[in-house]
Amino acid sequence: MSNLTKNLSVAAVLTATTNALAIAQTAPLPEPKAQQMTDAYYSAFGDNHSRAVHAKGILFEGMFTPDPAARSITKAKLFALSTAAVLGRFSNFTGIPTIPDNIGDATPRGLALKFTVPGDSEVDIVMHSFDGFPVKTAAEFAQLLVAIGASGKDAPKPTPLDKYLASHPIAKTFLTTQKPPPVSFATTAFFGVNSLKFTNAQGQPTYIRYRVMPVAGEQYLDAAELKTKDANYLQSDIKERLAKGPVSFI
Ligand code: HEM
Repeated sequence: MSNLTKNLSVAAVLTATTNALAIAQTAPLPEPKAQQMTDAYYSAFGDNHSRAVHAKGILFEGMFTPDPAARSITKAKLFALSTAAVLGRFSNFTGIPTIPDNIGDATPRGLALKFTVPGDSEVDIVMHSFDGFPVKTAAEFAQLLVAIGASGKDAPKPTPLDKYLASHPIAKTFLTTQKPPPVSFATTAFFGVNSLKFTNAQGQPTYIRYRVMPVAGEQYLDAAELKTKDANYLQSDIKERLAKGPVSFI
């Protein structure tokens, strides 16, 4: 590397660091209370007397077989078991319980898992089909939801959502780069967003993020295939698959 290149990259790092500091020094928004967060969801999707988000879903039961290799990074009881019972729920995005499965607004799709650990507490994990999240804090998320609610088709341009996305590039990426509707919940990859600290028996920490990958492989619909699907195709599909045998994820 020449000195010039080296200096340029140092300059780039310094600029990046300065920007990061400027961001860090901005006063954080106050944390919304639970009802304020729920109201923000209602402003985006309406109060449909259901869950405020991921309202349309389907429950299933299953079995989790931990990889013994996980015991090298965690002493959590769940991973010491040979198997654990799981209660799960696949879902669509939004707080609209009748949202059609075959439209983009139903993405990201959700996966919630509740593992039973005998003699211990349950372990819950929520994931969705996008590997990331639009914002860093609940307060920014509430702002995004309110902007969505105020940006219907009659809203003057630029809409509050246009303005929000102009100043929140990660939220823009989240809203504009979702995968197409999946062939099946059984062909969807799901991602946890928060990183978690695992500690092994020797006290060594490892930071992890959950991801659940379909053994059938990731499969999404193209435009022609999507036209053949009805508003409940994901619900029908998963019931049909499970009637024939188990569906697996790793
Ligand atoms: C500021 C961040 C978040 C807020 C305020 C929030 C809020 C909520 C609320 C209010 C519900 C409905 C709960 C119910 O009525 O049972 C929900 C459900 C859900 N959320 Fe979030 N959430 C957040 C972040 C996330 C993230 C990061 C993910 C995934 C990576 C996620 C995935 C889900 C899923 C899959 C469900 C459906 C759970 C089920 O099927 O039982 N959420 N969330």
